[in-house]
Amino acid sequence: MPKKYLVFMVQVHVNFRRAELESLADLYKLDSINFKDYKEDSPFFIVELDNDQQAKDWIKRSILTRGIYEYWGQGITYDELHSDIRAGNNFEDYKSCYKNSTFKFEFDCYGGSSSGKLDRVACIESFKYLEFEGKIRMKNPDEVFTVIEEYEPINDNVAGEKPLRVFFGRLVQRSDRFCGALEKYDLKKRPYKGTTSFEAELSLVSANIAQVKAGTIMYDPFAGTGSFLVAGGHYGAAVIGSDIDGRMIRGKGSQTIRANFRKYGESLQFIDVLTMDFTHNALRSNLVIDTILCDPPYGIRESIKVLGAKDPEKFAGKENVEINGLKAYLHRDYIPTKKPYSLDALLDDLLQFASERLPLDGRLAFWMPVANDENIETVIPMHRNLELKYNCVQEFNKWSRRLLVYINRGSEYNGPTNAGLERSSNFRDRYFKGFN
Ligand SMILES: C[S@@+](CC[C@H](N)C(=O)[O-])C[C@H]1O[C@@H](n2cnc3c(N)ncnc32)[C@H](O)[C@@H]1O
Repeated sequence: MPKKYLVFMVQVHVNFRRAELESLADLYKLDSINFKDYKEDSPFFIVELDNDQQAKDWIKRSILTRGIYEYWGQGITYDELHSDIRAGNNFEDYKSCYKNSTFKFEFDCYGGSSSGKLDRVACIESFKYLEFEGKIRMKNPDEVFTVIEEYEPINDNVAGEKPLRVFFGRLVQRSDRFCGALEKYDLKKRPYKGTTSFEAELSLVSANIAQVKAGTIMYDPFAGTGSFLVAGGHYGAAVIGSDIDGRMIRGKGSQTIRANFRKYGESLQFIDVLTMDFTHNALRSNLVIDTILCDPPYGIRESIKVLGAKDPEKFAGKENVEINGLKAYLHRDYIPTKKPYSLDALLDDLLQFASERLPLDGRLAFWMPVANDENIETVIPMHRNLELKYNCVQEFNKWSRRLLVYINRGSEYNGPTNAGLERSSNFRDRYFKGFN
C-alpha cells in the first residue's frame, strides 16, 4: 500500500527545482510520483510512494530540497495537528512500528524562526499519545521525528510571527544539500579555481538534471577549471574533460583539477583532461559517453576560438614550414593557429556531437546566456534527434542564463531543427555595451 511522504524543499532556484525532482524520480524509475500538487511558491510537497527505499533513492542526491519525511499529519494549530495525526489511516501501524525504537525530536521551520517562541519540551510532551517506549537518544537514534512549522515571512528579511501550518513526520532521508554538499564544494575552499569556475550549488543541480550516474562516463568538452567534472565525480561518474586552453586544463603548481578531486577524496572518479579543440574532437568514436554536461564559452571571460587560420590566404604554405627537418606542427611545443567562431555554430556542433555519441535516452545539459534587454525572442538550438526536455532560467538584471537539457531520442525521433541559423543576438557585444 503506498504511503504519504512530505518533501520539504528550499525556496531557491525554484525554476530548477521541479526539473531536479523529476529527473531524480526518472533516474530511479519512480514513475508513480504525481506532480499535480507541486507548487513553485510552497516549500512543501506531499506525494505517495510505495516505501521508504523509494523516498531515500529520490531525495538523497537532491540539492533543492531539505529532506523527505513519512507524513503523519498537519494542522493550522497544534491541536489540529494532533487530531490529524490520530485520525491518520496508518496511525496505529506507525505507533506500533516505532514503539520500541530509540528516537529524538527535531524542530524545523520555513519563513520564521521557531527558536525561542516554542516551548520545545512542552511541545514534545504534547505528543505523549504516541506512546513511544524506546529511549530518547540525541546521537544516532533509530528514528528522528520532526515538527515543521510554516510561517508567512513578513518580508525577505523579517521572519513571520505566527505559524500558518504545522507538519509532523518521521525523517526518512536528508538531502545532499542538508548533508553538507554545498559546504564541501564551496568554491572559496577549492584549491584550483578561476574566473570561469561555476558555483557549487547550480553545478550539482545541473548534474542531477543531467542524470549523471554512478559508474558511467561524463564528458565536459569546455572543462576550464573543471567545475562540472567535480559535480559529476560527486555523483559517482568517471569524468573526462577537454578545453582548447591548455593553461586552464593544466592549472598551476599544486593548483590543478586533479588536486581538487584529491581534496574531495574522489580521485578515482577523475579519468583525465586534455587540451583539445572541441570542433576537432579526438576522443575515439566508440568511446561510450553517457552524459555531456558543460558551460560553453560565450565570449565574456574567454573567447570562442577553434583551430584554423583567421586569414587562410595569408597562412597558405605555412603548413610546409620545417624546423630541424621536421614539419613545424609536429613539434611538441607547436602552438596551432586559432580563429574566432560563433556561439551558434559551436552549439550546433555540440548538439550534433551529442546526437552521435550519447546512448539512446542519454542527456546533454549545457548553460546558454541570453540577453533580456531587448524584446527579442530567445531561439533555443534544436537538433532533430534530440528532445529538449528542460529550459530552466536563472535571471540576472539584463541578462539571464539557461540550463538547456536534451535527451537523445535517436534518428527515428525527427524533431524540429534550426541548425545553421543565426540565433543568438550577439550576446558578447551587448554584454560589454551594458545592454539597453
Ligand atoms: C565558460 S568556460 C567553462 C568554464 C568551466 N565550466 C569551469 O569550471 O571553469 C568555457 C571554456 O571553453 C573553452 N573553449 C573555448 N573555445 C573552445 C573550443 N573550441 N574547444 C574547447 N574548449 C573551448 C575556454 O577555454 C573556456 O575554458
